[in-house]
Parts: sequence; C-alpha cells; structure tokens
Amino acid sequence: MPALECAVHWARPADGPEMRALLDERERDRYEKFLRAEDKARFVTGRFLARSVLADRTGLAPDRIRFTTDCPLCAGTHGKPRLPGHDLDFSLSHSGDRVVLVLVEGAEVGVDVERESDRDIVRLAEMVLTEPEREALFAMPDRRRGFHTYWSRKEALLKATGHGLAAPMTAIHVSPPDAPAEVLAWHGEAAAAEVRLADLTPGPGYAASAAVLTSRPLKITETPLA
Ligand SMILES: CC(C)(COP(=O)(O)OP(=O)(O)OC[C@H]1O[C@@H](n2cnc3c(N)ncnc32)[C@H](O)[C@@H]1OP(=O)(O)O)[C@@H](O)C(=O)NCCC(=O)NCCS
Repeated sequence: MPALECAVHWARPADGPEMRALLDERERDRYEKFLRAEDKARFVTGRFLARSVLADRTGLAPDRIRFTTDCPLCAGTHGKPRLPGHDLDFSLSHSGDRVVLVLVEGAEVGVDVERESDRDIVRLAEMVLTEPEREALFAMPDRRRGFHTYWSRKEALLKATGHGLAAPMTAIHVSPPDAPAEVLAWHGEAAAAEVRLADLTPGPGYAASAAVLTSRPLKITETPLA
C-alpha cells in the first residue's frame, strides 16, 4: 500500500500587517477579540501559515483563500477550518512559541502541539487517560513529558474527526509515550475505524502528534522551525 504524504510545517508566532491583511472579516473580528498579544499572534500566524501552504499547493492567491469552519455537531461556525472545493485536508495547532500545520491529500488530518506545563498531572490523568495508560504514565521517570505526549496524541485524533474535546479522551487508548504512536483501541461516536498516528518533533519542552484517518502508512515530511 503506497504511503500517504503528510506535510508538516512549523512556525513561530509573529504578527505583521502583511499577515493581518490576509484575514477575512470574520477572522479579523476574532483577532480583535483576543485580549493578549500572544494569542493574537498565534491565531494570525496559523491562518497565515495555512494560506501560504495552501496557496503553494493549489495555485490560489493567498488573499482569495476563504475557510469554512462548520461544526459537525451543531449549526455553529466554530469547527475545523477547511478549504472547500479541494481534496486537501489540513489541521492547525498552536501552543507557547509553536504554530504547526499538517496538510494531507485525500484523508482527514488532525494535529496537536502542547507546551509542557506544570499542570496537575495526577488529576488530569484521571480525567483523560484509561487505566492502563495511567499505570504506564506513573511508571515513567518523566511524567510531565509522558502526559503531554498522551494528550497531544489524543487531541490530534479528535481534531482529525472534527469532534475536538467535545468527545471523551478516555474512549481512546493509545500506546505508551515511549513506544511508537499507535491507537490500541477507540470506542464511542468519534471512533474512526482506520487511523494512523505519529509523533512529531516540535523541539524541547513540547509534545506534538498528527493523526490521519487512513489505513495507508504515513510518509511525514517536517519543515524545520526557522
Ligand atoms: C479543537 C480544540 C480541541 C482545539 O483546542 P486547543 O488545544 O485550544 O487549540 P489548538 O491550538 O490545538 O487548535 C486550535 C485550532 O484547531 C482548529 N480547530 C478548531 N475547531 C476544531 C475542530 N472541531 N476540529 C479540528 N480542529 C479544530 C482551528 O484551526 C484552531 O485554531 P485557529 O482557530 O486559531 O485557526 C477545541 O477548540 C475544541 O475542543 N473545540 C470543540 C469544542 C466543542 O465542544 N465543540 C462542540 C460544540 S457544539
């Protein structure tokens, strides 16, 4: 079975007039509503990265690219951004000093990057990990890294389906953080029958994963962070 190309693009948050100029009206409203400069920068960088990569891939002019964001669960417009009329799927994520976009043709994709933080890992593990996952995590010397790897793998899966955190992470059982990323079991309404999972290389202090709803092996190409 031929591998499916999965292009990963990394960027650092920035906020310039040429980036803001590409936002459409709804995006500009959202941009204005962010209170913190760093949230504005992560948002505008993500949309700029998406327009740049998709313009390269499709030949469309970046300022002609309009995303839909329909929610699959309600009539709202807060869902996964998509480019209508093309058999390309992309996913965006941002955290701390990282913005990432993953692009795939012919399959749904999800990505998540997480800056490792001093969250209450024991309490969060109760909420989002299965019992075997918790056992594996608590046996690890670096629980913080392990927890963020679990989280990014599961969030990438739920972003590939478009459910996001509206679906429970405890319905997903993934391989231990120090083993190659793999879905071991997944039940519930968000569960996908065919899925590939991979850890990405966001650099020290971050965890990141990509999920693609396909049975084909993934060929991942990561552009390094400038
Ligand atoms: C999608 C979600 C998991 C992202 O959470 P996060 O960790 O804060 O943010 P990340 O940086 O990893 O990802 C954010 C990006 O995901 C994308 N995104 C938004 N909703 C998405 C969804 N449902 N599925 C996939 N991707 C989504 C967007 O590109 C967004 O960034 P942008 O708006 O700046 O372009 C979270 O927003 C969520 O769970 N949304 C759905 C919530 C819900 O309850 N929906 C049902 C309502 S009826």
